[in-house]
Amino acid sequence: MTDDPEAIKTEILEATAAATTLDRLEAIRVEELGKKGRITGFMKELGSMDPERRKTVGLALNALKTDVAAAIEERKRDLADADLDARLMADAVDVTLPARPEKPGRVHPISQTIDEVVAILGEMGFAIAEGPDIEDDWYNFTALNIPPEHPARQEHDTFYLPGQNDGHRMLLRTHTSPVQIHTMQQQKPPIRIIVPGRTYRCDYDATHSPMFHQIEGLAVDESTHMGHLKGCLIEFCRAYFGVEDLPVRFRPSYFPFTEPSAEVDIGCIREGGELRIGHGDDWLEILGCGMVNPKVLENCGIDSGKYQGFAFGMGIERLAMLKYGIADLRTFFESDLRWLRHYGFSALDVPSMVGGLN
Ligand code: PHE
Repeated sequence: MTDDPEAIKTEILEATAAATTLDRLEAIRVEELGKKGRITGFMKELGSMDPERRKTVGLALNALKTDVAAAIEERKRDLADADLDARLMADAVDVTLPARPEKPGRVHPISQTIDEVVAILGEMGFAIAEGPDIEDDWYNFTALNIPPEHPARQEHDTFYLPGQNDGHRMLLRTHTSPVQIHTMQQQKPPIRIIVPGRTYRCDYDATHSPMFHQIEGLAVDESTHMGHLKGCLIEFCRAYFGVEDLPVRFRPSYFPFTEPSAEVDIGCIREGGELRIGHGDDWLEILGCGMVNPKVLENCGIDSGKYQGFAFGMGIERLAMLKYGIADLRTFFESDLRWLRHYGFSALDVPSMVGGLN
């Protein structure tokens, strides 16, 4: 063993000071102070020394051990601090950077129109009801007085599914009217519901999309009559289009599930390819309606001798196109962000209920 603890100390302290990583420092600690380390080795030699020498060398080795351990500890702290500083610098957040601009989302005109229609009819006392998009032909047709051989089934361009439900063909509902049936099966009159929802028909052009939206309305109680139907829909058209004295016309029509049936037209002018809703000598069809056919009430177990009601159904896309000047129905579902930025509504400037109901 060396007789010069001071020289060893200097050597170790230099190595310690030169260590630039915690790993290197740990290696030095193990080499010198570890169980098989150099200083530990010197300590083991003490046993074979004579007492005098053991005392001096022992003291010197203990001092060496303490100093080396302290130096390694101190270097370790310095390196850990430097390491933390380096990581903090690397991760530094520059709080002076300007924030990334956030593009606010837009409310789709379909959602906006549904909200407006629901707000107007909700104020009249209609509650929202829902039903499945996948129906069977009983709910979509038969219960609504459209038996299997009825020509109206052809007009609906139905998407049929491969499955069967109790012997009935499964299909994508072609209108929201089946929710009338579900509601009347589950609820006793008085009933006042509106049904916003998706509907499907195999059709595709500038005014048709295979998936579109309707809002159905149904009111059933003991005394509801045609006057209520007319009052409700005239009021609705005027509130929705924001024209107080908008002309509204009920034109006789036919639906298997209503009797009598009517189509509702609103007054408009067509000038130079432009359509303006309001006054004028032209008419524009916007919805179908009628008094609920007693057969439909009976199909749902409702006594048609006691109860009567009215129903209506309208296309949401059509309402939105007319009010917001959107020319092609297919653009609603193309998910073009530029289109949405143009026709969509910011959550803050959603038009109010255009005068609402007085
Ligand atoms: N279901 C009809 C359609 O899709 C609309 C309608 C509903 C008509 C309720 C009258 C009563 O064309």
